[in-house]
Amino acid sequence: MNPSFHLRGVSKRFRRADGSWNEALQDVDLEVRPGEAVTIVGPSGAGKTTLMRLLNLSLRPDAGTLLVDGVDPSSLSLGELRKLRARTATVYQQHHLVPSLRVVHNILAGRLSAWPLLRAMVSLLSPREADRAAQAASAVGLLDKLWERTDHLSGGQQQRVAIARALVQNPRHLLADEPVASVDPSLADSLVGLLRRLSGEEGKTLIVNLHDVPLALRHFERIVGLRAGRVFFDLPSGEVDSGLLVSLYEGDKELATDVREWLQEIFQTRPSK
Ligand SMILES: Nc1ncnc2c1ncn2[C@@H]1O[C@H](COP(=O)(O)OP(=O)(O)O)[C@@H](O)[C@H]1O
Ligand SMILES: [Mg+2]
Repeated sequence: MNPSFHLRGVSKRFRRADGSWNEALQDVDLEVRPGEAVTIVGPSGAGKTTLMRLLNLSLRPDAGTLLVDGVDPSSLSLGELRKLRARTATVYQQHHLVPSLRVVHNILAGRLSAWPLLRAMVSLLSPREADRAAQAASAVGLLDKLWERTDHLSGGQQQRVAIARALVQNPRHLLADEPVASVDPSLADSLVGLLRRLSGEEGKTLIVNLHDVPLALRHFERIVGLRAGRVFFDLPSGEVDSGLLVSLYEGDKELATDVREWLQEIFQTRPSK
């Protein structure tokens, strides 16, 4: 079977205001198999979000090749590209929910990419679609909140609505870009667990950018470290040692304290190498 995502020598750069280039990703090789779960960590500015935006086809690489399910998106017509894009759903940290809408309507907004506008407007109200929304809400444990206004929910519940909105697209691939950065640690743990469980049950490919390394190691068997736009390591979680983590975050002053705490948390629970 084709890999879900296959990147070879992928680079992406952005032009700064002064005209110089910012190399957001450089020469990235990455292969993720169908049904695999991978977490991506690294300092701020490492290129994690850029990588997600390449994978979900919001951005095109400047160099190298990117295949999704074995298909090169640059060879597709607009219609075909739209279909390929719809196989991947993305959950963002800023979850982009509409606060004044009911939960059911925010969830169904995930279906919009699959529909022409007119059908979308009509179908948002149809009982069959309400059923789909109820299914997704139930998967994230929010069935009883389906008809509540979204802004009446807690932050963690809203993040679960965002996950339900991704699920209702019935994607093959689920991406999440720091989906728990603004929720407390125990909730973060249960939300990442939820993402893993839901994608695991349906054999979806899951790729999650995480700020918190111990959280990443607890939930994923494969971890990719990005640093300055390059793949710094790509390892089974059990093989990441403290030296690697220290060098991954070296020079990031804002994270220095976090990194010390992470090392303690990780290596007091398993022997360091
Ligand atoms: N749209 C953009 N325009 C200009 N620079 C960008 C843009 N998106 C990202 N960058 C730059 O690319 C680098 C990688 O950013 P990003 O992928 O957001 O990193 P991360 O998510 O790991 O913090 C950063 O230096 C960032 O400033
Ligand atoms: Mg980011």
